[in-house]
Amino acid sequence: MVTIDTLKQNERVDALITKADQLLGEIGYTEHGQRHASLSANIAYNIMIRLKKPEKQAHLAAIAAYLHDIGNVINRDYHAQTGAVLAYDILNETGMPYQDVLEVVAAIGNHDENDGQPVSDICAASILADKSDVHSSRVRNLNMIKQDIHDRVNYAAKSSFLRVDEDKKTISLEIKIDTSISQVMEYFEIFLSRMVVCRRAAEYLKMRFELEINGQRLL
Ligand SMILES: [Fe+2]
Ligand SMILES: [Fe+2]
Repeated sequence: MVTIDTLKQNERVDALITKADQLLGEIGYTEHGQRHASLSANIAYNIMIRLKKPEKQAHLAAIAAYLHDIGNVINRDYHAQTGAVLAYDILNETGMPYQDVLEVVAAIGNHDENDGQPVSDICAASILADKSDVHSSRVRNLNMIKQDIHDRVNYAAKSSFLRVDEDKKTISLEIKIDTSISQVMEYFEIFLSRMVVCRRAAEYLKMRFELEINGQRLL
């Protein structure tokens, strides 16, 4: 079975993630490299397992989440769609069953909040995993935190955790923000569209999305 470990040993995948991250660095984006890919994969897998989805689907969610940003190697615009096309070739080369390849590329192609929507469980899990990664370690240049709101909000985020509660039917994003660096309002200013897409993804999974910042429930 093709799993995330198969991909982690794939030199092309490694090069794609590294190059995509480097190019995003060139245009001033936060970290989108191995760390973001692996973390998203782990979170997507855990969401699926928590929701008692089949193990195989959980692996597919992890694979989609691991590869979701490789399209940035071509351009930030339409990176979800270009990433899906890149993943199509790579996954076919691994010998993954064709139906599974199609599941994964559909999830990758729909992960972005600007032009995608949850089209499957694995897509919804990938979206939630991707969007919950807000963390100070993603900031590349500390000199930018005064000028750049994305850098500031990420830098202020000292921890973020996605809690899946099967009984309460809730998926909660719990973030701790250092308000001496960035105000909670700034978080909303740039993450509102992300929160909308998280809510849609949670609803697709028949769950309710909640947002908690510094212990206060805000959504
Ligand atoms: Fe993305
Ligand atoms: Fe991402």
